[in-house]
Amino acid sequence: MINAKLLQLVIDASNDGIVVAEQEGDDNILIYANRAFEELTGYTSDEILYQDCRFLQASDRNQPGLAAIREAVNAHRPCRQIIRNYRKDGSPFWNELSITPVFNEADQLTYYIGIQKNVTEQVQAQERVKELEAELATLRAQLAQLKN
Ligand SMILES: Cc1cc2nc3c(=O)[nH]c(=O)nc-3n(C[C@H](O)[C@H](O)[C@H](O)COP(=O)(O)O)c2cc1C
Repeated sequence: MINAKLLQLVIDASNDGIVVAEQEGDDNILIYANRAFEELTGYTSDEILYQDCRFLQASDRNQPGLAAIREAVNAHRPCRQIIRNYRKDGSPFWNELSITPVFNEADQLTYYIGIQKNVTEQVQAQERVKELEAELATLRAQLAQLKN
């Protein structure tokens, strides 16, 4: 079994954000956030501990991925969704968020693990491809008209 100190080192060396949350009423409050989470969001652990991670959505609460996350969290099921989040300075990023429930030996939910991966470049590249495809379709249609 890996010892606690080594585990801490490994988690803090991760490129992706790693958080642990526990259920408190309707919220899942953060009890741990690693260094990559602090670097990604601009918040220090001290600033965000005991809060639900939804503060990262700011006022952008009407996103399709959030319904899927809410449903999975309520049903104690794992999920993975790409959502828009906002850093402390207000700048947006795309977060590929993976949430996994952790159960104890008595099969009771004890914690959730959250992994935050910054996929902003990939999402922007996909959006650009869509724009270019739309432009190409328009140009093809114009070309077809010129040929007639
Ligand atoms: C462990 C864990 C990590 C989470 N991390 C994030 C996150 O990085 N960004 C985010 O917008 N929501 C995150 N959430 C989701 C929110 O806490 C919340 O479940 C979501 O906004 C849906 O519920 P709501 O409609 O009550 O806000 C996380 C949830 C859990 C349990």
